[in-house]
Amino acid sequence: MFIKNHWYAVELGHRVAHEPVLVRIHGHNDIVLWRSRNRAVNAQSDTCAHRGCSLASGAVVDNCLECPYHGWRYAPNGICVKIPANAKGIPIPKNARIHAYPCLERYGFMWVFLGDLPTEQRPPIPRLDGLEPHREARAKGYKPIFGDFNWKANYERVLENALDISHAPFVHSGSFGNPDHPEIQDFELDVTRRDEHVVSVGASVNLEPSPPSGFWRLISRGNYPRVRTTVGFYPPNVSMLIVRLPLGELRLFSAAVPTTEQTTVSKFCMLRTFFTGAWADQDAQRRTRKIFLEDQPIVESLRPQRLPSEPSAELHVKSDAIQLAYRRWRQEQLVKGWGLQTPCQPSPSSCGQQQRGGQL
Ligand code: FES
Ligand SMILES: [Fe+2]
Repeated sequence: MFIKNHWYAVELGHRVAHEPVLVRIHGHNDIVLWRSRNRAVNAQSDTCAHRGCSLASGAVVDNCLECPYHGWRYAPNGICVKIPANAKGIPIPKNARIHAYPCLERYGFMWVFLGDLPTEQRPPIPRLDGLEPHREARAKGYKPIFGDFNWKANYERVLENALDISHAPFVHSGSFGNPDHPEIQDFELDVTRRDEHVVSVGASVNLEPSPPSGFWRLISRGNYPRVRTTVGFYPPNVSMLIVRLPLGELRLFSAAVPTTEQTTVSKFCMLRTFFTGAWADQDAQRRTRKIFLEDQPIVESLRPQRLPSEPSAELHVKSDAIQLAYRRWRQEQLVKGWGLQTPCQPSPSSCGQQQRGGQL
């Protein structure tokens, strides 16, 4: 299942520099991201209109994307502006063009609109609370790290796992979960809507931490207060986790990108207020990956691999309220007819609807 007509976070902004970058989205034509001279971002079909060569292996030349096969050049709006083999005076065919997707850069992610709604009817790009609305992922006083994590699992299973608070004492007993305290207190869901669209859902709970070991035990000096933790999602594919430790705060934003029906890559940004020197980045990476690695075998074992369409197909308890909010949001999209087993393939003729990116 894929929900169309939303802005998907598909890549980390700083990964798109001088070279084109390939993005795979389940059921879509591959997409290539590249930057114009003014640093605006472009998202276009990866398939050259001439012989179908992958444009991601081409180059950005004179503010155009150049195909590596015969050198056709495509402007940011997807229109071919140069065919090198043509003698002077030979016109470029009108249909020599590739699809240009609406694309914006914000909060450190590249957002691509996947669907067929006109500009004025599109749901907004979510506001990632706790990140400044610049191109870069940044927040005052926080040091970010970035990364990818690959899953052999459907993106909705990956996304829901990030919203699941009651698995921590079992799956993460080796890191932050405390198996002696599996109970979850009641919590309130905080749902934000803009116009008729749900733009964020979150909830905060106090979790019992596991007693730290080694270096962290020394630092905490036997003081292990409950950890105020906020979990949430920004439809369609970004999850958020805020952990308020005695030492400072961690914020993890993660985009679950559906590369195939059964594979996902999480593009993540983790920010911290403590040990903000570059010397601590490697440890922050290691700790973030450890948590993903603890989740991985569990998430990849879930059956059915895709989320069931019927809300009653799985059992839900009170502590599952955030995942249930996701399923309710998903149900709303299905009722609108925006759920697709195989997303639509845009035709080149729809190019020109592109929204230029990143001008904040
Ligand atoms: S296949 Fe791209 S220019 Fe020929
Ligand atoms: Fe987890």
